[in-house]
Amino acid sequence: MTTNTVVRLEKENNLVLIRINNPPVNALGHAVRQGIYDGIADAADDDQVKVIIIICEGRTFCAGADIKEFGKPPQSPGLGEVLERIDACPKPVIAAIHGTTLGGGLETALACHFRVALASTKMGLPEVKLGLIPGAGGTQRLPRVVGVKTALEMITSGKQVNATDALEAGLVDKIVNEDLEAGARAFAQAIISEDRPLIQVSRLDDKLLPARDNPGLFEAFRQSIAARTRGFEAPEACVKAVEAAVNMPFEQGLAFEQGLFRELVTGTQSAAQRYYFFAERQTAKIPGISKDTGTLDIRKAAVIGAGTMGGGITMNFVNAGIPVTLVETTQEFLDRGLNVIRKNYDISAARGKMKTADVEQCMALITGTLSMEDVARADIVIEAVYENMDLKKEIFSRLDHICGPETIMATNTSYLDVNAIAAKTSRPEHVLGLHFFSPANVMRLLEIVRAEKTSQKVLATSLALAKKINKLPVVVGVCYGFAGNRMFAQRKREADALVLEGALPTQVDKVMVDFGFPMGPFALYDLIGLDLGWRREASTGSTIKERLCEMGRLGQKSGSGYYTYKPGSRTPIADPEIEQLIKDFAQEKHIHQREISDQEIIERCIYPIINEGAKILEEGIAARASDLDVIWVNGYGWPVYRGGPMFYADTIGLDNTLETIKGYQARLGNDWQPAALLEKLVARGQRFQDVE
Ligand code: 3HC
Repeated sequence: MTTNTVVRLEKENNLVLIRINNPPVNALGHAVRQGIYDGIADAADDDQVKVIIIICEGRTFCAGADIKEFGKPPQSPGLGEVLERIDACPKPVIAAIHGTTLGGGLETALACHFRVALASTKMGLPEVKLGLIPGAGGTQRLPRVVGVKTALEMITSGKQVNATDALEAGLVDKIVNEDLEAGARAFAQAIISEDRPLIQVSRLDDKLLPARDNPGLFEAFRQSIAARTRGFEAPEACVKAVEAAVNMPFEQGLAFEQGLFRELVTGTQSAAQRYYFFAERQTAKIPGISKDTGTLDIRKAAVIGAGTMGGGITMNFVNAGIPVTLVETTQEFLDRGLNVIRKNYDISAARGKMKTADVEQCMALITGTLSMEDVARADIVIEAVYENMDLKKEIFSRLDHICGPETIMATNTSYLDVNAIAAKTSRPEHVLGLHFFSPANVMRLLEIVRAEKTSQKVLATSLALAKKINKLPVVVGVCYGFAGNRMFAQRKREADALVLEGALPTQVDKVMVDFGFPMGPFALYDLIGLDLGWRREASTGSTIKERLCEMGRLGQKSGSGYYTYKPGSRTPIADPEIEQLIKDFAQEKHIHQREISDQEIIERCIYPIINEGAKILEEGIAARASDLDVIWVNGYGWPVYRGGPMFYADTIGLDNTLETIKGYQARLGNDWQPAALLEKLVARGQRFQDVE
């Protein structure tokens, strides 16, 4: 029997299967909710039916509410109503779960009286990552099943647990190894024959008792997550809701959860985080590239240069089981590079992130060499030498003679012209940029730089490869600094100017940290090293940075830069000597210093990023505004609860953004020339999100 297009009711003797089929992830959209609601009512009324199983087709049990429905008028029945009906059903309801049972999906399973899981199932409540709390009883039911501490950890982190841990925690009643449906059916018949009482999670209380006697637990938990949740609203709401589960009767707790959920779902943080969820999934959708675009097989890789970047890039391939030939110019550099890689793996093993035996296995996948000819059999070669155009051109010209006809040749340049590098080969269609971010073995972001002649096949292969090596790819075009660094340069210029005009590095950094960045521009300079790109012979003391380098203040690594550092510490300490140095420098350059407001710092450090992003979009360097947001959230520490610079501009209004930019243009000149696209969108009353 069919209840609707996505939910089927299958009756056999004393059993009913409610089968959901709503690809791709069985999200609990309106039709699914209605189908379950009607199915439970039907089964409850049918005297022949003794037991009900809810099961899903496809790759997963329900992976949550349908995120696309948020922000639209709610349609009855809501998920809460559906789960109430399951909870109150007088006949046992079993959730047969597999895949990733997440959010509303896990809440549905928790409202059932029993849960049977396939051994490979992962379970979690990831709502916090969308700026939300579980809004269909998850905060009230989960602690009643797994205890308060585990529930707090799961709900505030959104992390998934595997089936074995779930069984141990009481989250599932039985694990099935192969055939979920058969296992669930057998479990159902056992329940009937044993006449097992229904377990209504809403009526359980015993696992809440220890927390009721220990109210300090919540304060301690809040403190333990404070650093990693700074700036986010949802984690505190999660804690409050679990606190309500402990201190209020179930129904009252449920209403409290609902109130918090409504507040968050209509707020700007959740809107930003939901936007970001889809933004990440958009990046791989490239006009002209489809599933039918052919790809090349990447079984062997080569990396030229065993420095920090080359070493990190090598680790990405090795971690995915792809052997790498690592090329250096001297044995000393090669040994140093290999030692750093080994040290990184040893640290991971010491932290329990990998087995000690795996360290050897990973190292065995790397072949160090001093001969570039040894890359001849690689399917992809990535050049990661220092930023020098002549050197890069020479390398690509040599690679052209060494590599096979189908080999992809990539440069890891952060700024340079990939078209000019490609032109040094006889097959520019096989050349592109793969801009990894540092540390390359940790950062997920990968800018894929599509050069003028890069073929679709090479691009499609790079996108597939990025997924394989666990990177988040964003395709951009060729220009100086590509998308991310080109936008970043704008903030750098304004931050440097602000301290000359009278703001202190500590003030600029604090404003940026309060905005949500993990650190401000000057602490970041110190972390990266002020001497990046600086040479003593060429230094003329024409900028503060040059003067600091000349003084040997190179940043954290030398114990001082814009700040000072105690030995072994990374905590920046404000230095009066620097404040004086900046004042003297400004005087020398006849720059009038004044008091600068925090608001001006925000506007001058943030708005030029947006303006440059708009120029990048109008030039076609990026395909969509959300790609730029993904770059900034992943590569530059932009707080995800503000969506990204382009989304942020949409939030404050493009008309306001343009007006502010024009104001600074009048004061500061043509660095602030508004992007034509920004003016066009304002004239049309559109947002960056509307640009197709
Ligand atoms: N709602 C709407 N669409 C969803 C969705 C959801 N909950 N989950 C995934 N999708 C869509 C994706 O946008 C994507 O669409 P596309 O093909 O058009 O780009 C498609 O489903 C496949 O998703 P992925 O590309 O992410 O596939 P993966 O296999 O890599 O991952 C997943 C699958 C682990 C389920 C991942 O999609 C995911 O984490 N989804 C979100 C889970 C989530 O946050 N659930 C909570 C929702 S909020 C909630 O339940 C509130 C409740 O408490 C009331």
